[in-house]
Amino acid sequence: MLRAVINAPKGEGSRTGFSDGIQIYKNFSPELRAKIEKLNVIYTLDTRLTKMRFGRNFKSFGDQDFEMKTVEESRIFPRAMHPAVWTRRDGNKVLHVGPWMSVGLEHHEDAEGEALFEEVCQELNRKADQVSYWHDWKPTDLLIWDNWRMLHAVEGCDPKWERQTQRTTIKGDYGLGYFEDGKKIGEVFREVAM
Ligand SMILES: [Fe+2]
Repeated sequence: MLRAVINAPKGEGSRTGFSDGIQIYKNFSPELRAKIEKLNVIYTLDTRLTKMRFGRNFKSFGDQDFEMKTVEESRIFPRAMHPAVWTRRDGNKVLHVGPWMSVGLEHHEDAEGEALFEEVCQELNRKADQVSYWHDWKPTDLLIWDNWRMLHAVEGCDPKWERQTQRTTIKGDYGLGYFEDGKKIGEVFREVAM
């Protein structure tokens, strides 16, 4: 669930985009689907857009000071692995890749793997554009989405505009992600919370 209580003015990059991971998967070529079917994407907590390596399709305004906190955390946290494709209980396959904060493909951190992941991210950008919904916020709006299916993205605005969003997620572990040191995602968060 997401609210945007303070936001940039309409037309200044204030929107949030949603795209259907099932449709994106279907719209990928069978060749590309076969290449990524069993692969895990590696994510870190480094949120800096200037360090984003894959799927770049924008001009960055530069990093923000507050991001250094997550950069520090990313040095302590092991990297997280999540499948590029997963299967829902109803049998539908979902492409669930986020280029932001991703650093490559597990067991494929070589030139070939990087080229493949770049291909996936650029194709994702194109296909997501075809099936996306961009929400123009009112301060009283509350959006709810199924994270087992939908990808979401920020439109991106000049940092001179203040934005304040509030998000909450139903507690649970979807059971497919794990950290590089072998721990399940839920285990590490319990350790950090204690
Ligand atoms: Fe988000």
